[in-house]
Amino acid sequence: HGKRDLTGKRVLISAGGTREFLDPVRFIGNPSTGKMGVALAQAALHRGAIVTLVHAAIEPHLLAPLRNIRTISVTSAAEMQQVMRECFSDADWIVMAAAVADVKPTTYSAEKLAKRDLPDRLPLSPVPDIVAELSTLKQPDQRLIGFAAQSGDIITPALEKLQRKKLDAIVANPIDQPNSGFGVDMNQAVFIDRSGRQVHIPLGSKLQMAHQLLDLVQEIS
Ligand code: C5P
Repeated sequence: HGKRDLTGKRVLISAGGTREFLDPVRFIGNPSTGKMGVALAQAALHRGAIVTLVHAAIEPHLLAPLRNIRTISVTSAAEMQQVMRECFSDADWIVMAAAVADVKPTTYSAEKLAKRDLPDRLPLSPVPDIVAELSTLKQPDQRLIGFAAQSGDIITPALEKLQRKKLDAIVANPIDQPNSGFGVDMNQAVFIDRSGRQVHIPLGSKLQMAHQLLDLVQEIS
């Protein structure tokens, strides 16, 4: 990709897996490594964008090549929500590639709980839906893109999320196919925009897929 077609565009990307701690050593999380979000940040930077990356837990070595990108590190969904809110109005495109844990333990203990004090059943509470809130703040010239990691039928739940969360587009990607989804360097997806356009992105590197996604975001009408 030799284009500098995103020169001056401000792109805000979330990446990685949020963690909801029960005590200092135990958390609810997910296997996200941040590779897709980091690939998007690299692709956007390469094409001239001004990139901000808000990342929860990611593989630490991924951050090394991200000079020239503003990076902000968070842990929980509530922290990610706070930072995304603050950065939102300065962004033209917002891409939520982060895997946000849907629930958190209802209570947090600042002291490590002894094994015998761990409950048989852990009370859970919902975390805020970050992208759904951002869509209520969205200005007409902003574009808000979500991801939907799915197993089985990836399209139906992604369409439902696109509509319910009022997104401009959603990237449905399978987590039950070889060489796709969490942690690996490859991915495949179906991009669905608000007009109903569906584009299949075949198996390729996450960087290739990032460039194709940026092309498709540009084409949203
Ligand atoms: O988890 P779910 O499949 O609903 O995620 C779809 C999209 O919503 C993703 O872009 C994800 O980053 C975002 N999301 C969020 N806040 C949540 C859950 C998901 O912003 N609490």
